[in-house]
Amino acid sequence: VGDAAAGADPRALIARASAALLSRAGDEPSARLEAEVLLASVLGCERSVLARVGAVSGEQVRALETLVARRRVDACPVAYLTHRRGFYDLELYVDERVLVPRPETEHVVEVLLALDAEGLLPPGPVLDRGTGSGALALALAGALPGRRTLVGSDVSAAALEVADLNRRRCGRRLMLLQADGLGALRPASLAGIVCNPPYIAPAEHGQLPPDVRDHEPRVALVPGEGSVPAVYERLAREAVQVLRPGGWLVTEMGAGQADLVRSACLGAGLDALRVTSDLAGIPRVVAARRAA
Ligand SMILES: C[S@@+](CC[C@H](N)C(=O)[O-])C[C@H]1O[C@@H](n2cnc3c(N)ncnc32)[C@H](O)[C@@H]1O
Repeated sequence: VGDAAAGADPRALIARASAALLSRAGDEPSARLEAEVLLASVLGCERSVLARVGAVSGEQVRALETLVARRRVDACPVAYLTHRRGFYDLELYVDERVLVPRPETEHVVEVLLALDAEGLLPPGPVLDRGTGSGALALALAGALPGRRTLVGSDVSAAALEVADLNRRRCGRRLMLLQADGLGALRPASLAGIVCNPPYIAPAEHGQLPPDVRDHEPRVALVPGEGSVPAVYERLAREAVQVLRPGGWLVTEMGAGQADLVRSACLGAGLDALRVTSDLAGIPRVVAARRAA
């Protein structure tokens, strides 16, 4: 595409990369979007300014070809290739140490903010259990009014390294803590807990798309507790212990899991259950209160 001295034409590069990515992306608009995102990453610019880019150097063409091959052949998620992922009002760094934050997880932020706006969230710290990249905790650190303490915990030391990087990049106040579940926390100490736990049944891991199965950390996908009901039962049981009276657990869940999450919360003694659906109409978030 173009001769080496004059540089390559970005439009031709995008067309060629789109064609190479078609089978992985599934349709032409998605393939073109991925091609543009990868080229923008190589050039260090926003996708919106690609139309104003002149020629692309031979070195940049080779860098693009490497990224396209990793996407096409290895099914590497685009976010791990660009190390960028938008979440709520943030642009997060991501790599294979953490789950790529998903848009539906933003509903967890919205539900907790709504509880606070209604005056239902007691004073005190809010903890993000299984913080991964820090997405939920850092979004709340920016959006919750007042100077609430935000804590991000994770069982994975590697994930906490990424959360730490994001904390420094976005300059928000966040304490990080390595912990398995909530057991190590002081009883009745938290005003709120947000959580997006691993909720893929162990038997389903092998059927996940290769982008997810072969690249995202297994600890972020499959519950260490051995089953999906067990992860929510443990979460609710531990939440009752560490929430203050009147404090809230707000958790994401997978499609079709609303009934089991509801019974886990009720079984642990939480009440005032609220279920919120995502933009696809799938019940996605459960909020439950420790009785005041
Ligand atoms: C589905 S990912 C969510 C990551 C991030 N909160 C998000 O929404 O993008 C689940 C996270 O929980 C962590 N995790 C898994 N089991 C855990 C446990 N027993 N205690 C604490 N964290 C755990 C994983 O390391 C992973 O970072």
